[in-house]
Amino acid sequence: MTDQPTLTLNDGVRMPQFGLGVWQTPPDQAAEVVKTAVEAGYRSVDTAAVYRNERGVGDGLKTAGAAGQDVFLTTKLWNENQGYDAALKAFDDSLARLGRESVDLYLIHWPSPQRGLYVDSWKALVKLKADGRAKSIGVSNFQAEHLEKIIGETGVVPAVNQVELHPRFQQTALRAAHARHGIATESWSPLGQGQLLSDPQIAAIAEKHGKTPAQVVIRWHLDSGLIVIPKSVTPARIRENIAVFDFSLDAADLAAIAALDSPTGRIGPDPMTATF
Ligand SMILES: NC(=O)c1ccc[n+]([C@@H]2O[C@H](COP(=O)([O-])OP(=O)(O)OC[C@H]3O[C@@H](n4cnc5c(N)ncnc54)[C@H](OP(=O)(O)O)[C@@H]3O)[C@@H](O)[C@H]2O)c1
Repeated sequence: MTDQPTLTLNDGVRMPQFGLGVWQTPPDQAAEVVKTAVEAGYRSVDTAAVYRNERGVGDGLKTAGAAGQDVFLTTKLWNENQGYDAALKAFDDSLARLGRESVDLYLIHWPSPQRGLYVDSWKALVKLKADGRAKSIGVSNFQAEHLEKIIGETGVVPAVNQVELHPRFQQTALRAAHARHGIATESWSPLGQGQLLSDPQIAAIAEKHGKTPAQVVIRWHLDSGLIVIPKSVTPARIRENIAVFDFSLDAADLAAIAALDSPTGRIGPDPMTATF
């Protein structure tokens, strides 16, 4: 297996810095995709209840044998199941679909502030961690004020905040808040959902290193201390995306990518105004 970097989370757990995302991976393809990824060396998979493919993910990990059992598995609480009791029940349902007795990381998928339930949901995740059923707990799409609120109310700091992050939307202010609290930053849509891959600056850096644009962008996340979970259902791309441990970016590359950051670079919903 490729020698891959890990980050030590604020609870002492080691998480692979690189993994597979499976949003929009069709449920009936998820098992095969996950098995292909594990065989290619992936040791982390990011799913969610709302992706409707937890069962396929669990099946893929089982058919991948011992290596599949070694995979760091993340799933997420969907917004409709926020609240203390509802979150505990939703977690049980996710474990049943995954065919597991525990997960490595459980995240609140969105703060969904209009529901007013994310503090109660966080208390449920604190219990799941105390019970050992979620080895680490964290959040996703939380803004600084949501982080302050859950930390203030429970004293428990999330291990991870998974947020939209890519060269066109680098989240500098939120990353500074994470650093103050010791929260690891995980990048979703790390390839900008593929849109970044035709950027001429990225293409030039790729050519210089004899790598592909996707490999350059993934390497940028790794070199920036971020956790990165590119999604692909295409076997050749799944293998391409993990072939990033044999080069690094230089200062000129990092400066060129830093300049791609844009206040209008967001692709997905704004967590403050999202209505789901
Ligand atoms: N917490 C959240 O709210 C949230 C939101 C969004 C995403 N996520 C997580 O983050 C993961 C990744 O984000 P994402 O799926 O939105 O997008 P992404 O990983 O940025 O991009 C995926 C797209 O890029 C294409 N692609 C992948 N590798 C490629 C390569 N080497 N060359 C060319 N094209 C390539 C894929 O195509 P093919 O699949 O067709 O190969 C797919 O269309 C998700 O799967 C999910 O686990 C979380």
